[in-house]
Amino acid sequence: MEKVLLVSGSPKKEGNTMRVMEKCATVLTAQGLEAEIISLAGRKIEACIACAKCVGTGVCVLDDGLNEIADKVRAAKGFIIGSPVYFGTARGDLMNLLQRVGMLSYNNDKFLSWKVGGPIAVNRRGGATATIQEMLMFFFINEMIVPGSTYWNILFGKKPGEAMEDEEGVRTAERFAENVGKLIEKLA
Ligand SMILES: Cc1cc2nc3c(=O)[nH]c(=O)nc-3n(C[C@H](O)[C@H](O)[C@H](O)COP(=O)(O)O)c2cc1C
Repeated sequence: MEKVLLVSGSPKKEGNTMRVMEKCATVLTAQGLEAEIISLAGRKIEACIACAKCVGTGVCVLDDGLNEIADKVRAAKGFIIGSPVYFGTARGDLMNLLQRVGMLSYNNDKFLSWKVGGPIAVNRRGGATATIQEMLMFFFINEMIVPGSTYWNILFGKKPGEAMEDEEGVRTAERFAENVGKLIEKLA
């Protein structure tokens, strides 16, 4: 069974980003795919220190759980990420994860190439499209394939759970997850 890894970049275990990842996982599971969600709540993902020690080894020297997450990304066919918008950008720990996983792939066997996925951003009021664009940079430099949806993958909400009331946002994210699943099946 093909697998999709979903990462919630929020520090909140039951926040809006986690809830939208759960919605996507439900859609993927209904399509017959395996879906696993990793939450960054309670984790501290450090920034890349540019030591280049991953070159040829495929292993990051920083011991904060990133290597285990990278192994899960490697094993999955799909990779969906969600971030709350913080001052018009993605949350730092999530970008740290993307930059380090990106270096592991880029400096070694390019394991990210041809994986299917993309980003979703949750915001209270502004900055979601810029945040989507910021996260897309990771997908496109790594030869990944990003399907579209019926709108950009953005949801509006502040308090935990509030974004689930953004019907169009939820529908857009669900359709995006469905398209990720369809594309994985077509590429298989
Ligand atoms: C440090 C910080 C910065 C934020 N910056 C923005 C922002 O620039 N634009 C916005 O619309 N919402 C901003 N928010 C609100 C969150 O994006 C919003 O509450 C989101 O739903 C949180 O998602 P979560 O429940 O998954 O953590 C910010 C929240 C925090 C804690």
